[in-house]
Amino acid sequence: MSQQAVIETEKLTKRYHDFVAVDKLNLRIDEGEVFGFLGPNGAGKTTTILMLLGLTEPTSGTARVYGYDPIREPLKVKRIVGYMPEKIGFYDDLTARENLDYTAWLNGLSREEAARKMSELLEMVGLAKDAEKKVGKFSHGMKQRLGIADVMIKDPKVAFFDEPTSGIDPEGVDQILSLITDMARKKMTVVLSSHQLHLVQKVCNRVGILAKGHLVLEGSVEQLGRESLGGGKFRIQLQVADPATKLIDAIKSINGVIDVESSNDLLLVSCNDDLRPQVARAVVDSGSLLVQMKIEEYGLEEIYLKYFRES
Ligand SMILES: Nc1ncnc2c1ncn2[C@@H]1O[C@H](COP(=O)(O)OP(=O)(O)O)[C@@H](O)[C@H]1O
Ligand SMILES: [Mg+2]
Repeated sequence: MSQQAVIETEKLTKRYHDFVAVDKLNLRIDEGEVFGFLGPNGAGKTTTILMLLGLTEPTSGTARVYGYDPIREPLKVKRIVGYMPEKIGFYDDLTARENLDYTAWLNGLSREEAARKMSELLEMVGLAKDAEKKVGKFSHGMKQRLGIADVMIKDPKVAFFDEPTSGIDPEGVDQILSLITDMARKKMTVVLSSHQLHLVQKVCNRVGILAKGHLVLEGSVEQLGRESLGGGKFRIQLQVADPATKLIDAIKSINGVIDVESSNDLLLVSCNDDLRPQVARAVVDSGSLLVQMKIEEYGLEEIYLKYFRES
């Protein structure tokens, strides 16, 4: 039997008058995945999330969350999902703990359970010291971390984070992403939307890239790299003074090399492992002089740029 899909959409479509924001989207996300829902601003990520949460109605097509229809069975869906919106709203005049307490109350947690969870979560997101401070005084990053705690307090089975890293400094980004992925390890399913591909790709098992309401690419980062760019996961670029004719053949014969391209003194080696030592050895053995060498690992950024350059 196949695993139950946590999220499944079929031809999910949202139109605003004549404008199609989400266009026949077919998406499946399985339990325990950290799914990166990526794409430029305006691609339709937030609209899709809102349809999955039952906060906006699809124009056509279907959405299911653990088999429930968010429009017909909104309470069933709300009970199992957590959602951190792009612009988190907290009560500025309440403290961090009071804000969490309110969420706990809304979700029907007992007083003891709420107190225990709040302390645990405030500690986890690094806000234990600031628990009694008013949220109005919090930085953007602190509010985002409180937002994560706020999502976690109800122990959702699936959590949606809409642009959780936007406006956060690089250090804060790592902190937020590792908090989110730590949670995912507890068998929670996470959907992470972002237009910042380079930041998010490292924490996702699988990504879907949305453009103009269409899912244009979907798969693991590595798989996408291979499929859409051709060649291997790594690309070694080397400059060789007077490359000997035998050199290209020698590099091609290295175990793990997929392809070698050359133009003048530049060679591009495509491979699935970091083969720099072997390549350097081949250059030296051929009697050529290695001027420089660098390696690039394909990331989504390249895939994304390639896709959007072509489309
Ligand atoms: N309530 C709305 N009314 C009209 N157009 C909307 C509305 N919400 C979103 N849109 C449009 O739909 C497109 C997708 O928006 P959105 O889902 O917010 O994209 P993303 O989250 O990927 O940046 C955008 O062009 C946006 O302007
Ligand atoms: Mg958005």
